[in-house]
Amino acid sequence: MDEIKNLISKELRDFEHKFADSVKSHVPLLDRIMHYIVKRKGKQIRPMFVFLSAKLFNEEVNESTYRAAALVELLHTATLVHDDVVDDANERRGLFSINALWKNKIAVLVGDYLLSKGLLLSLNNNDFRTLQLLSVAVKEMSEGELLQIEKTRKLNIKEDIYFEIIRRKTASLLASACAAGAWASSGDEEITEQMRLFGEKVGVAFQIKDDLFDYGSAKIGKPTGIDIREKKMTLPLIYTLDNASTETRRKIINIVKNHNTDKDKVEEVINLVKASGGIDYTRQKMFEYRDDALAILKKFPDNEIRGGLEALVRFTTDRTF
Ligand code: IPE
Ligand code: IPE
Ligand code: MG
Ligand code: MG
Repeated sequence: MDEIKNLISKELRDFEHKFADSVKSHVPLLDRIMHYIVKRKGKQIRPMFVFLSAKLFNEEVNESTYRAAALVELLHTATLVHDDVVDDANERRGLFSINALWKNKIAVLVGDYLLSKGLLLSLNNNDFRTLQLLSVAVKEMSEGELLQIEKTRKLNIKEDIYFEIIRRKTASLLASACAAGAWASSGDEEITEQMRLFGEKVGVAFQIKDDLFDYGSAKIGKPTGIDIREKKMTLPLIYTLDNASTETRRKIINIVKNHNTDKDKVEEVINLVKASGGIDYTRQKMFEYRDDALAILKKFPDNEIRGGLEALVRFTTDRTF
């Protein structure tokens, strides 16, 4: 990770100032919350993808690339604040989530504030193409989260729907991040589309990894083991249900439907998933997406920046948090 960051160290340093500046508010409560958010930064993987995608086509990073990176992180942060309300999650980045500290009402408004700051940042600088690319992601993220809620009510989700959900709720933002970076430095639509597709593959792998974390017990700075509680059917469970005996399937469905808050029963489901090979299967799918992403990169000249992007793709699937 440090080696990747070295390739864009100046960019990341400047980015942090610009990001902090972009969320300043004169409303005292909002300013306190923004302070809390800026202090507790995440992995910043999306701005890294923006900068590397830009530098792949031009060593000189321009101001619109910085704004694209800030916009992407603002949108990401907004969706996390809202997502924790939706998922009723009380931990984020190793600390209390916004909804845990300030309650849902405030978290909803904070998410909206972050979104509006992103929109203004682009519009005030006439970054229309960037905003167009990112608005697609905002729309798709909402659709993905809603599609997910719809499916939790029925519990009959199939693999293709799972991939549709994660492509929208997570991959679309990474796709737009890579596209925006490539656009800001190249202005070339063909290249932008290739990089969008690249980001989409990485994004799917990224969310599969996130879903695998939920089946583990590693400390990752946010709750694990809550997907079943929220009746969220992710790939390990979908695979298990598709391959289990009728009896086991009934048992699992009954627990997810009626005993999803019972820790021991949820543990039982997790163990059934592990025993059925659901985790191995999911990892294998994740690596397929990783390899698709790496194959797209191979079309571009082999240089240091491409190496950095390749390493960031590998970080996505090999990370421990
Ligand atoms: C979390 O994203 C949301 C998902 C799409 C799974 P990250 O894992 O990138 O979150 P931070 O920004 O590093 O906290
Ligand atoms: C992905 O969903 C996050 C968004 C689309 C905002 P998750 O609910 O799986 O993400 P985490 O695990 O809370 O970060
Ligand atoms: Mg969540
Ligand atoms: Mg999750």
